[in-house]
Amino acid sequence: MFNSMLTVVVGGFFGDEGKGKLVAYLGLADDVVAAVRVGSVNAGHTVVWKGVTYKLRLIPSAFVNSKTKLMIASGALVRKDVFLSEVEALGVRDRVFLDRHAGVIDEEHVIREREDPNLSGRIGSTLQGVGAAMADRVLRRLKLAEDYPELRPYLIDVSEVVNDYVDRGFNVLVEGTQGTFLSLYHGTYPYVTSRDTTSSAVLSEVGLGPKKVDEVVVVFKSFVTRVGEGPLDGELPEEEVIKRGLIERGTVTGRARRVAPFNLELAKKAIVLNSATQVAITKLDWLFPNAYGVKEWGKLPAEARRWVDEIEGALGVPITLIGTGEEVEHVIDRRRELGYL
Ligand code: IMP
Ligand code: MG
Repeated sequence: MFNSMLTVVVGGFFGDEGKGKLVAYLGLADDVVAAVRVGSVNAGHTVVWKGVTYKLRLIPSAFVNSKTKLMIASGALVRKDVFLSEVEALGVRDRVFLDRHAGVIDEEHVIREREDPNLSGRIGSTLQGVGAAMADRVLRRLKLAEDYPELRPYLIDVSEVVNDYVDRGFNVLVEGTQGTFLSLYHGTYPYVTSRDTTSSAVLSEVGLGPKKVDEVVVVFKSFVTRVGEGPLDGELPEEEVIKRGLIERGTVTGRARRVAPFNLELAKKAIVLNSATQVAITKLDWLFPNAYGVKEWGKLPAEARRWVDEIEGALGVPITLIGTGEEVEHVIDRRRELGYL
């Protein structure tokens, strides 16, 4: 019998750390009763499950566990078309729930962002209308999910339901979006997104108090990427990115991501900002091809283990989860051996 857990997963760099895949893994491994998504449609999460690639913009990545209830937080912003088409495409109609106070982005917000030279030029926004809708929310003129009849079948009070699950001892997973340094408050302002992306803000979006949390997992990729503008220490020139085989494209925008090596100083800061209790490292196989698909710590190539050990020592927080491939199950889960389960 495992202990019940409320786990929050957040990105430690600039988004695209591979949270989607990791959350999908945890959804299955921890048999979570509910998974909650925060944020909005600017954040795309990729999940490769049984050979099929899913690009999710609203539905929690833990959908791969067919027993998990899928929820969208009151602090989230949805687009009706994206929400309804993902629900249909994934066939999850009977287990998706939307907080009645989630905000709704409409076409006018997208147009406003496209016409904003600061967002489309200087900031390199994904132009999904998220910032404009957020501004309307602050001005208290944004429509909420409960204002739209077609969303009514999905509406619940997510905070109430999730708090009740936690109190009754079920496992619950909260899925953060984007990364720590895209935070409106703690990131590289003005080159940031329109919300705070750290663990405290994620909890606030759901309506969970800080003392309910058991584990905060901060996810780092084995290298740093950034899509859009803003500082990126140690940024590699394009030829070097190609040479090292580190080319990636944005899930939502398709833009090529800028790349830098793993950044220990940023990682240390992310650990403090999020009060991390565990660290996950994804895409270890991108640095060490022999690590591909490995599921046991002992079977990793020695140089990959050394790299992980060195980072763990410098961060002072256990690296409990390691991604070694694109499939949900390509994970080394050290939580049991490290005393977390
Ligand atoms: P916006 O939030 O779409 O306005 O974009 C602001 C900045 O955050 C831009 O640099 C975007 O590329 C970046 N950004 C927003 N969402 C994500 C994400 O999910 N992953 C990575 N970058 C993101
Ligand atoms: Mg992404």
